[in-house]
Amino acid sequence: MCALKILHVAGARPNFMKVAPIIAAMARHGDVFEQQLVHTGQHYDENMSRVFFDQLGLPRPDQNLEVGSGSHAQQTGRIMEAFEKVVLEDRPDWVSVVGDVNSTLACSLVCAKLGIRVAHVEAGLRSFDRTMPEEINRMVTDRLADLLFTPSPDGDENLLREGVSPDRIHFVGNVMIDSLLRLLPQAGPAAEAFLERLAREREAAGDFPVGDDPVLVTLHRPANVDESGPLAEIMGSLVELGRDRTVIFPVHPRTRGRIAAGGYGKGADGLVLIEPVGYLEFVGLMQKAALVLTDSGGIQEETTVLGVPCLTVRPNTERPITITEGTNQLVQCRQQVITDAALAALKGPPSKAARPEKWDGHAAERIVEVFLGLEK
Ligand code: UD1
Ligand code: UDP
Repeated sequence: MCALKILHVAGARPNFMKVAPIIAAMARHGDVFEQQLVHTGQHYDENMSRVFFDQLGLPRPDQNLEVGSGSHAQQTGRIMEAFEKVVLEDRPDWVSVVGDVNSTLACSLVCAKLGIRVAHVEAGLRSFDRTMPEEINRMVTDRLADLLFTPSPDGDENLLREGVSPDRIHFVGNVMIDSLLRLLPQAGPAAEAFLERLAREREAAGDFPVGDDPVLVTLHRPANVDESGPLAEIMGSLVELGRDRTVIFPVHPRTRGRIAAGGYGKGADGLVLIEPVGYLEFVGLMQKAALVLTDSGGIQEETTVLGVPCLTVRPNTERPITITEGTNQLVQCRQQVITDAALAALKGPPSKAARPEKWDGHAAERIVEVFLGLEK
């Protein structure tokens, strides 16, 4: 087989842990794959981008499109314009996109118009909620992709129902879990060091110490954080929980300004708002947490594998397997509902770690096998 030119796209925080194992698995077949990595620059803060390259051992991107933030149309349009130039120059055989962010959609659309083949990793997930920007990105990307790599059988079912030809669909498992399992041994020590540093800083500032068995929180869905109503409900619950225990909340940049503007989060000694943390630190914090409260996509999956109870503040999920087989539970965005669910989970029996089929650390190798079996 002659060399296959593969161009990988990554743009936002949840892309980096998905791209890393695929690049590493292809690098083990250096005679077959000629790889390039393009960073769209959708996320650009040090702790939303650079830290992941260091910790995941990702190569430096060959190009950074530096598109930055903007409305959906602005961001998608800027990525398309810049990415079109890249692929016209490099003419890859395949472009690999992961997940469901604007970078995923924009690059797929460019390739579809230019006749460049697209592989979508994490295909087939559906929340059936078109108010989520990610659902639009998932549906359109899957419609355009030539190869669709699914993380779970529900993904295959959704795609088949939508009329995607079965020969394009490959159930390979979850690449995000490849990164999790590979780096788990480093995560505990990273979180220990992080917590010691945090404890010293808090002691110096005269704040309450960080307790054991924390609740760990992330929030960034527009439906939860862009309007003051839902955010006030969630922050009210975090304050209630933070009166009796440590609640560690690495605040996503989208959410930061909204919390400050609303003056939320005051009145609980245990509620600790911090900047987003690196991947190793975050995975280690999840391992130590008694409970995770989130609206993230990927964190629903990671908590399932780690066996940590997860409350997802959303009316639906595109990752139903984390509920049917894992530790995830949906909760309504109401202060009392969240607090009651959190207290029940904290009192309940310990959760068991679950490994849905093919969430075994070898998903990227299966992707490589599919590429190796292709006619050029
Ligand atoms: C994006 C993805 C979402 C994903 C999330 C992961 C889309 C439509 N959304 O949401 O699916 O779950 O990333 O984290 O692609 N900002 C910074 N620094 C950064 C990045 C963003 O300050 O490095 C701020 C900017 O004010 C920006 C806002 O965060 O306007 C939102 O960023 P954006 O990339 O548009 O969407 P996310 O909410 O991060
Ligand atoms: N994550 C991290 N630091 C943080 C919060 C999250 O490294 O402060 C990791 C988390 O472990 C997971 C990924 O970021 O691997 C999830 O990304 P995010 O929640 O931003 O996006 P989503 O999955 O919702 O698209």
